[in-house]
Amino acid sequence: MSRALIIGASSAIARALIDELESHGTQVHSVSRARLARERHSCLNYGEQAIANWCLDAQQQGLAFEHIYICNGMLHAEELQPEKSLTAFSESAFFEVMQCNTVVPMWWLSNLSKILAPEAQCVVTIISARVGSITDNRLGGWYSYRASKAALNMLTKTAAIEIRRTHKQSKFLLFHPGTTDSALSKPFQKNVPAGKLFTPHFVAQRLRELSTDYTFLPPCGFYDWNRQPIEF
Ligand SMILES: NC(=O)c1ccc[n+]([C@@H]2O[C@H](COP(=O)([O-])OP(=O)(O)OC[C@H]3O[C@@H](n4cnc5c(N)ncnc54)[C@H](OP(=O)(O)O)[C@@H]3O)[C@@H](O)[C@H]2O)c1
Repeated sequence: MSRALIIGASSAIARALIDELESHGTQVHSVSRARLARERHSCLNYGEQAIANWCLDAQQQGLAFEHIYICNGMLHAEELQPEKSLTAFSESAFFEVMQCNTVVPMWWLSNLSKILAPEAQCVVTIISARVGSITDNRLGGWYSYRASKAALNMLTKTAAIEIRRTHKQSKFLLFHPGTTDSALSKPFQKNVPAGKLFTPHFVAQRLRELSTDYTFLPPCGFYDWNRQPIEF
């Protein structure tokens, strides 16, 4: 039985992914700030030391994962909206978004060698976003979210080069889910064309299919829900 770890497990996409993986026979472990009523779940605050300790504990228990999914992402919060213009840029909002979207995933990547199955074919998926593509940026706006996902992409690509020196069969997938019905997209759904707002269930199916297609995936790629590559 293959084993997966879902980080940021309270997200709408993550919850659908847990169901999708479990229905295909994968043993799923999960981590979230939230207490979820499920087996093999850890409630964690995502501090640097807490993440390092969690990974060390897992290593000492002999827990190793063939699939890891990092789902964390913030676009808005109570006092934080994505910037429509340069004048809306705020240092504190920028750091809050970077902390969630870039720094927290990076702490998991830093500890990955403890929890990746050493000899197996492994895929590490980090949920990114098309707006993190510098090449694809035609509309502008959303400065902090875009920058956090662009930085996430660069850090993942760099980490993949290093981790693959020791974990030669590991692959890295930066995944764009498409606009998906979740708390994150809720305030921005009214302009989404009909048929373009995906359910978490649909996205989870597409993500499971892509992330388990080991031979299709490059060592580190940026792909959308429809298996199309996205330029960095
Ligand atoms: N929905 C879309 O249209 C869309 C489009 C493109 C990309 N994405 C990306 O898809 C991923 C999943 O998003 P979703 O749509 O499923 O959103 P969601 O339901 O709002 O989930 C939010 C996620 O972010 C984490 N999170 C929130 N605040 C955090 C903080 N302060 N520190 C650390 N983690 C925090 C949550 O982790 P906990 O479980 O620990 O609470 C959860 O995993 C994100 O990376 C998002 O950027 C979504």
